[in-house]
Amino acid sequence: MQGSANLNLMIKAARKAGRSLVKDFREVENLQVSAKGPGDFVSKADREAERIIKEELRGARPSYGWLGEETGAEDGEDPTRRWIVDPLDGTTNFLHGLPHWAVSIALEHKGEVVAGVVFDAAKDELYYAEKGLGAFMNESRLRVSGRRHMIEAIFATGVPFGGRSTLPATLQDLARLMPVCAGVRRWGAAALDLAYVASGRYDGYWERGINAWDMAAGLILVKEAGGFVGPVREGRDIFESGAVIAGNAELYEPLCKILREAA
Ligand code: IPD
Ligand code: CA
Repeated sequence: MQGSANLNLMIKAARKAGRSLVKDFREVENLQVSAKGPGDFVSKADREAERIIKEELRGARPSYGWLGEETGAEDGEDPTRRWIVDPLDGTTNFLHGLPHWAVSIALEHKGEVVAGVVFDAAKDELYYAEKGLGAFMNESRLRVSGRRHMIEAIFATGVPFGGRSTLPATLQDLARLMPVCAGVRRWGAAALDLAYVASGRYDGYWERGINAWDMAAGLILVKEAGGFVGPVREGRDIFESGAVIAGNAELYEPLCKILREAA
């Protein structure tokens, strides 16, 4: 795909941050055995990745706004455009030496995500999409799965941790969904959950209590791969409510029905 200058900039920034994180990830594996653990080291790696991305993106487009997990929101001179960045999605996996984490970068224009990059640096899988131009992983075009029956489908979610208030509703979702599908996965990186829906590995995904930076890039991947995305509660804004459903063209509606029936 011949991407725009902005998409190429996003890919460059994601690859640069990914290289830094891969180097740090090797060190994390060594730190598991230390009494202190790799916690502080990982926080530094995360902040450094955001610094690298910010330097690339804001250096090239100083007028765009910014929303990053580590450094928060900053207005730009151009109020219509902002970068939405999670430098390290799947932080807990990274911390535990599990190779399932990604850099996530999205560009929003007038309230709509118009480009997204999710880079799984440990597996060298680069997912990217631009509005109207399709979604890709490395050189291959992505399509959502064609599964039509819930009982054959695998769905991903994030199960809230650390006493978060969305836990009871998520457990209720699981109780409704698990008996009627082929399985639910909880791999701990929302950006990759969405990338996997886009690539047809998963048939759908939902999560309650998630941030814009976790999902912004993944949402356009799913849409450009022929899938659907929407809020858990009809009519709500996905980013504001932080509750999202994504699915292939066949199973998005049945999945919404099950999740929206929950109290
Ligand atoms: C988290 C991951 C996880 C999801 C959480 C997110 P982080 O992001 O995406 O899969 O369940 O809601 O906060 O903390 O690893 O960047
Ligand atoms: Ca995240």
